[in-house]
Amino acid sequence: MCGIVGYIGPERATDILMEGLTRLEYRGYDSAGVAVYENGKIQVIKARGRLDCLRSKLEGQPLYGHVGIGHTRWATHGEPSDENSHPHLSQSGRIAVVHNGIIENYAPLREKLMRKGYEFVSETDTEVFAHLLEDTFSRGNGDILKAVRDTVLKLEGAYALGVLCSRFPDRIIAARKDSPLIVGLGEGCNYIASDIPAVLPYTRRVYLLEEGEMAQVFADHVEIYDMDLQRVDKEVYEVTWSVDAAERGGYAHFMLKEIYDQARAMRDTISPRVKEGRFNLAEAGLTDEMLEKVRRVVITACGTASYAGQVGRSLIEKLCRVPVEIDVASEFRYRDPILSPEDLFIVVSQSGETADTLAALRLAKARGCKVLAITNVVGSTIAREADNVLYTWAGPEIAVASTKAYTTQVLCFMMIALQLALVKGRITQEKYDEYMKEFLTLPDKAEKILEDVTPIQKLAARFFSQEDIFFIGRGLDNALCMEASLKLKEISYIHSEAMPAGELKHGTIALIEPGRLVVAMCTQTATMDKLFSNIREVLTRGAVVLAVGYEDSTREDEATSYRMAIPRTDDLFAPVLAVIPAQLFAYYCAIQRGYDPDKPRNLAKSVTVE
Ligand code: AGP
Repeated sequence: MCGIVGYIGPERATDILMEGLTRLEYRGYDSAGVAVYENGKIQVIKARGRLDCLRSKLEGQPLYGHVGIGHTRWATHGEPSDENSHPHLSQSGRIAVVHNGIIENYAPLREKLMRKGYEFVSETDTEVFAHLLEDTFSRGNGDILKAVRDTVLKLEGAYALGVLCSRFPDRIIAARKDSPLIVGLGEGCNYIASDIPAVLPYTRRVYLLEEGEMAQVFADHVEIYDMDLQRVDKEVYEVTWSVDAAERGGYAHFMLKEIYDQARAMRDTISPRVKEGRFNLAEAGLTDEMLEKVRRVVITACGTASYAGQVGRSLIEKLCRVPVEIDVASEFRYRDPILSPEDLFIVVSQSGETADTLAALRLAKARGCKVLAITNVVGSTIAREADNVLYTWAGPEIAVASTKAYTTQVLCFMMIALQLALVKGRITQEKYDEYMKEFLTLPDKAEKILEDVTPIQKLAARFFSQEDIFFIGRGLDNALCMEASLKLKEISYIHSEAMPAGELKHGTIALIEPGRLVVAMCTQTATMDKLFSNIREVLTRGAVVLAVGYEDSTREDEATSYRMAIPRTDDLFAPVLAVIPAQLFAYYCAIQRGYDPDKPRNLAKSVTVE
């Protein structure tokens, strides 16, 4: 999604802005721009396309000023174009604005401003803010901070804003509501950014702006205010992860690096939660006393995170006999869901900023539910608004296609399910110990899959030109198929469908024709015979079947043509291992087709619009 960077200090602002924007490229964007105060006025340069387009423009027209704001835009209102890119200038050119989020009441505000004679050069909601701020400022007492505050109070929707005003070149003003924004603290210089990696080369000390907070960022100090313009005393947040952790570290792509980082990530998710042979999830409010009271679980999330939730549902229902309801957040929030304060309400979000998931969280809280967030980003909005948080500790996930976030989210559900089952007396202590022993081997087993990926590379080379690929499975394998299919389509652009294996014959089997690839997830022993009947159904129609199963199982070899193997584990834990070959298969298919898996078309890392 869109990215914001701002800088004020002794350096040439464009150097810092471009470096920061480069670090935010992973968020996804289709145009970019900068505004710099220079020679008494604000100069704006922007360009549709990748940052290199903006770079070339800046080479032809270098800017030397020391204060500026920059932006990468992912189109929402108006197509990707130079005009629609940020920063946007007010009518007089004295105010420049960058904005993430959506101003929902932009249409009536725009009309009102047009009636007053304001002329618009873009189709964006953000330009409305630029003119509205100028209008408010011109009628005020010359206090720019107050003018920003008065203007944001007229907005409905979400915003993270950076404002530069030529009357006050000694500062950048920042404000946020429902869209993340941080202030980076330097020595004799300061920064604003929508995401921490943008400022990491320069500082690890940041303020995480809260809802409704504003900042006046000067070169030598920062002032934080609330909406009543009262000063706020904020704690500095020290970033502990390294710049390197947010960079590729020798891998061709972030996605590949993150796939390989999974064993480490899994260890970091598990180890702080195991104490004396038991899971201790008290940090997330999941004490034995609390778990005992759980009568129903409700899970909501989007995309990959929702597929982790699907695995969670199967595990909790199977192990604990507690009913679980799950829905994607974009549907959940609009269907007037039946919720009770006794429900354990779980939201799952890697970024902690997904708009629909956040809205679902707020709805649940408004209905009196206690919300548990499973998230990866400390200080994210979802982490801050949830009552309790179970962090995945996967480390920064940069690639748009989620990998290590999924595996660690699934591990979190496994820990919750096992602990809930024990507390509710649904499994014996012996069975729990047995599960625990096997659970602790999962990171090593993940590592083993990653030792030699050549067979998967070869399979991708064999199948990358397929136009449609189907994924079939039963039970937990079915939940896994949804994630495997999403991974393939989002980065390789191969059309793909995930289908409960038994459901094929009710329609989709009509699409099976000679040579069509069907990937069969074969890890669930209880339904294996049934699955093999379904495999035979597609084989007899000429499909080629690629099985994902245990390395010591010979059954797949008998019936299927190709296979990807994972180490043997308890069937309940298989999704966390079987997803790894599926991720690699998707990755290598994308490479074979000549696509950049880190920058899939039309997608953004963090979807902060509805
Ligand atoms: C994953 O590969 C996706 N690109 C996407 O589905 C993602 O999982 C979804 O947008 C939810 O994001 P979140 O986990 O940050 O909330």
